[in-house]
Amino acid sequence: MKFGYFDDDAREYVITRPDTPYPWINYLGSENFYGLFSNTSGGYCFYRDARMLRLTRYRYNNAPTDSGGRYFYICEGGDVWTPSWMPMKSALDRYECRHGMGYSRISSAKNGLAFAQISFVPLKDNCEIHKITLTNESTADKDVDIFSFVEFCLWNAFDDMTNFQRNYSIGEVEVEGSCIYHKTEYRERRSHYAIWAVNVPIAGFDTDRETFLGLYNGFDCPKTVFAKKANNSAASGWAPIGSHHIRTHLAPGESKTFVFTLGYCENPDNQKWERAPQPSEANNALGVINKAPAKALMEKYSTAEAVDRALDELNRYWSALLGRFSVEAEDKRMARMASVWNQYQCMVTFNMSRSASYFESGIGRGMGFRDSNQDLLGFVHLVPERARSRILDIAATQFPDGSAYHQYQPLTKRGNNDVGSGFNDDPLWLICGAAAYIRETGDYSILDEKVPFDNDEKLAESLFIHLKRSFDYTLTHTGPHGLPLIGRADWNDCLNLNCFSKTPGESFQTTANFESGIAESVLIAAIFAFVGPDYAEICRRTGRAEEAERAGKAVAAMVETVNRHGWDGNWFLRAYDAYGKKIGGRECEDGQIFIESNGFAVMAGIGLEDGRAQKALDSVKERLDTPYGIVLQQPAYKEYHPELGEISSYPPGYKENAGIFCHNNPWITIAETRLGRGTRAFETYKKINPAYREDDNLLRRLEPYVYAQMVAGRDAPRFGEAKNSWLTGTAAWAFVSISQYILGIRPVFDGLLIDPCVPSSMKNFSVTRHFRNAVYRITVDNTAGAEKGVKSVTLDGQALERSADGFVLPALGDGKTHEVITLMG
Ligand code: GLC
Ligand code: GLC
Repeated sequence: MKFGYFDDDAREYVITRPDTPYPWINYLGSENFYGLFSNTSGGYCFYRDARMLRLTRYRYNNAPTDSGGRYFYICEGGDVWTPSWMPMKSALDRYECRHGMGYSRISSAKNGLAFAQISFVPLKDNCEIHKITLTNESTADKDVDIFSFVEFCLWNAFDDMTNFQRNYSIGEVEVEGSCIYHKTEYRERRSHYAIWAVNVPIAGFDTDRETFLGLYNGFDCPKTVFAKKANNSAASGWAPIGSHHIRTHLAPGESKTFVFTLGYCENPDNQKWERAPQPSEANNALGVINKAPAKALMEKYSTAEAVDRALDELNRYWSALLGRFSVEAEDKRMARMASVWNQYQCMVTFNMSRSASYFESGIGRGMGFRDSNQDLLGFVHLVPERARSRILDIAATQFPDGSAYHQYQPLTKRGNNDVGSGFNDDPLWLICGAAAYIRETGDYSILDEKVPFDNDEKLAESLFIHLKRSFDYTLTHTGPHGLPLIGRADWNDCLNLNCFSKTPGESFQTTANFESGIAESVLIAAIFAFVGPDYAEICRRTGRAEEAERAGKAVAAMVETVNRHGWDGNWFLRAYDAYGKKIGGRECEDGQIFIESNGFAVMAGIGLEDGRAQKALDSVKERLDTPYGIVLQQPAYKEYHPELGEISSYPPGYKENAGIFCHNNPWITIAETRLGRGTRAFETYKKINPAYREDDNLLRRLEPYVYAQMVAGRDAPRFGEAKNSWLTGTAAWAFVSISQYILGIRPVFDGLLIDPCVPSSMKNFSVTRHFRNAVYRITVDNTAGAEKGVKSVTLDGQALERSADGFVLPALGDGKTHEVITLMG
């Protein structure tokens, strides 16, 4: 069953009924200010950090779901309704939500009154704009009362949800004109406040939740709205909210537009007050805040025209971004995902890391060292400069020995001590991210940037030294078989072979009660074999010939070790546990075969020459493949094994315990292209791609336009159901798999390699690719029906010579557009 459709020309997903199988959300904002926005106007917004500077309150895990948002209540002709359907679940005569690039529109109608809302964050400002238009579509005059509603979060979202003994006494607001100012803690250490404003005079307002709703009422039944009269309540402690009451009249056919601004404003410390609080005054005279920044913001968006201009700018921004890579092909689902939605999701994951979604509360994880490095892979072609500074930020949380903080806080950019380090794959992802940046841009100067270790300027060294330490960390932390030690976990956060937790509630990753020095990871070895050659190549190209040679030898030795101790006969092993026992081997009762080591080993080219790579992928297909994607391992662990850690703590079929963990499915896709099996590669690509499951939404449940982290595996009662959409490494890897390996347009150090690996049925496609300040319009002719192999390439009509790497388009850097014709066969 479908709940909407893709409007490809508009780059929008159009949701045609509000009761989607789960809230289907969008992200507003591109750099500092962000909002999460569901198809029923639910969600919240924050400035830079979803935990520390949250403007509005949202109730995670609530019943009903999706509680909290920017709500508008309409009273007209004796009826009260919410045009975004929630929170009243109003029976609407019409409803549609369009999620676009950085904006969403909701339009609906009831009783001849039409409602249109467009919500977005303007490019350079720290606010959400909600432009509301009401149109009288009937033949009679209409008197309409509108009530707006947002609930303020007292900034620190964790504290806001836990520390009620304090919070019920600290809320403060001011109201002036049509603007409600939320200024909790401004009297002490904050120099910022939030505003909720509208560009017309109001009939009244409320700022106290209990007064507005009634203590025992929900958002679906606000007492004040039903009374059709605001109380002008002043919050003092408890729960500050913002509600405007607007009275308006609409003649038949008439439209009226209102612009609401929900924004973040900051003052210099010495200009906080218009009138500072007077110590001699009684408790209510708390001083008057300096409203200058708020007034400037409101002035900027005081007309519908100004809002429309800002929206145009946003649209132009996205057109330019997405113009950097786009595909035309017969397969519309692939083309729209690769050209639009997948890249959009990559931008969101780059911005959010794993902080705020409908599955991540915004108070838990900050930025992940490994996650952010992988997110770069799908983002670096969009805004290389931002990728560059991200790499430097990440590197600054590395320790001098090459290990790294597993997570860091976006606001302070400092490593997170609660989680600490010891995830032994982390260092290698820095090489992976930096190499992707250099291949995209050709900018080797990043290697000379001085970057602190452990955020300590005194320990600063060049980025190159950071990469070297990453490389050496892996080499110097090996176990009895010469394979890299796993530490607290590798990519699989739940393979905790040194943690042995038997106490409920204890964190699996940080329970460092066991230091075996024995548990090893074949995956880390394979990652080393995959990124090591890039490191060696970077050395070679920067005049470090000796280091290049050393690195090349180290990689060859690691591959040898994998061959000797990481091969199980029909597939690659996954790990050795702290007792030296195999994980992911045929003799294991459960967990005989894992996806990760097989994908990465073949990606790294291990076993290509002697048929083992093919054997490994055939085993993966035979044992792990399902109609909805490839599960992480089989058989699922049926009981809890303390010596394996969190992986066996999940019920069979969910998450790392044999769920379809979408993140590593593209590794198999890419691996299949290394074998030249284009049909198989494309099959695995399609299985996790949400656009192909649009008709299957009752089962899949999550947004058909973004990837999810996990789809329940075949051992789970809810096989096929997706969870954790948006913030997942799946986005970057899926984009890499389709753009670089299937369509085969891959940045390499010398230029842009053209090396497609497609199903034989894909007869032609074309890609427009911006690369190092030139545009390449690449058409691929596969009337031959090949799966892999390029016969010839012409660049602006001239035959291109095949190099040792294949057909590599030179980086022309002339700002011009170049025509490239590729013949497969
Ligand atoms: C989550 C984590 C990621 C990890 C993966 C597998 O996606 O964010 O870092 O690699 O789970 O455990
Ligand atoms: C990753 C895994 C998840 C695990 C978490 C622990 O997100 O996907 O299963 O619970 O890491 O930090």
